[in-house]
Amino acid sequence: MTQTVLVTGGAGYIGSHVCKALAASGAVPVAYDTLERGHDWAVQWGPLEKGDIGDAARLDAVMARHRPLAVIHLAGYIEVGESVREPARFHKNNVVNSGVLIEAAIRHGLGAFVFSSSCAIYGLPQTDLLAEDHPVAPLSPYAENKAEIERLLVATGDRLRSASLRYFNAAGADPGGTIGEAHDPETHLMPLAIDAALGLGKPLTILGTDYDTPDGTCVRDYIHVNDLADAHVRAVGWLADHPGHAAFNLGSGTGYSVRELVEETSRIVGQPVPHSVGPRRPGDSPKLVGNIAHARTTLGWTPTRNLATQIEDALRWRRKMPRK
Ligand SMILES: NC(=O)c1ccc[n+]([C@@H]2O[C@H](COP(=O)([O-])OP(=O)(O)OC[C@H]3O[C@@H](n4cnc5c(N)ncnc54)[C@H](O)[C@@H]3O)[C@@H](O)[C@H]2O)c1
Repeated sequence: MTQTVLVTGGAGYIGSHVCKALAASGAVPVAYDTLERGHDWAVQWGPLEKGDIGDAARLDAVMARHRPLAVIHLAGYIEVGESVREPARFHKNNVVNSGVLIEAAIRHGLGAFVFSSSCAIYGLPQTDLLAEDHPVAPLSPYAENKAEIERLLVATGDRLRSASLRYFNAAGADPGGTIGEAHDPETHLMPLAIDAALGLGKPLTILGTDYDTPDGTCVRDYIHVNDLADAHVRAVGWLADHPGHAAFNLGSGTGYSVRELVEETSRIVGQPVPHSVGPRRPGDSPKLVGNIAHARTTLGWTPTRNLATQIEDALRWRRKMPRK
């Protein structure tokens, strides 16, 4: 029997790539999204059910209709700066509404719940590479939301098996060229650097050059969105034999500074990235680089696309992406 997986946030950047990977594995992805921040053009591998994760009646109807085996939960607000400005709105949409979804998943007896968590929960790094047992000390309401949802999943682990996938920085795009990152406003470094180099956007502002890092700019671990998507498919399969809750880092295990990313983008685009220097952004950690041994050994997952491939794929997508 073909398995159906409900993908909340399936019309978003990462969710659309997860839907494609699920379809490639033989499953039917049902995208469940308000379209508030997502795009109907990004839903290409299964049906779109418009709905809010905070709407229990709508979730009941969609789960009864499609009878999913599992839910992959990516829906939420994602921008750290916005969470600092509007913490109550973030708490409602990200935490309270995730609680409604978790209750629905339990009511309908779903076999697996895979959650998009974030490395942001670790806060200030106490070790060079962050492993899953690093203390959780969020620096922003957004990161606190992720930590709180993880705690809900731990607390409900006796009724719903779950995995929290702690992404580092998602980047790149599917090489097929029909889906990719299309946030509005865009706040992620790679698309902003590409836009600046292509002359499609404003010059880039480097947010802080006085961090305690080799060149003073933040160091991040970039992971190709298709490598992320692959891990979700593996996590659903793994949960079939593993009750309770588990957390997995998903990164490349290698860090690049903002300046290094700007230089690599400039090399690949073949144009300089016009940029200036600005103040630090509240809620940013100086360095977030993952120890990914747990996902490698437990899920059999390996990232396969390096930083250059991520920039090349994001650039190809940028040249094609639908404009509003
Ligand atoms: N992009 C990254 O680098 C990164 C890193 C760590 C974690 N994450 C997490 O991954 C997930 C997906 O991120 P993304 O970059 O694809 O974001 P995105 O904004 O492209 O996708 C999120 C989707 O969720 C939908 N949504 C929001 N609230 C909803 C609700 N109440 N009900 C139904 N749909 C709702 C939006 O319309 C959007 O389509 C998010 O949970 C994010 O916090 C992303």
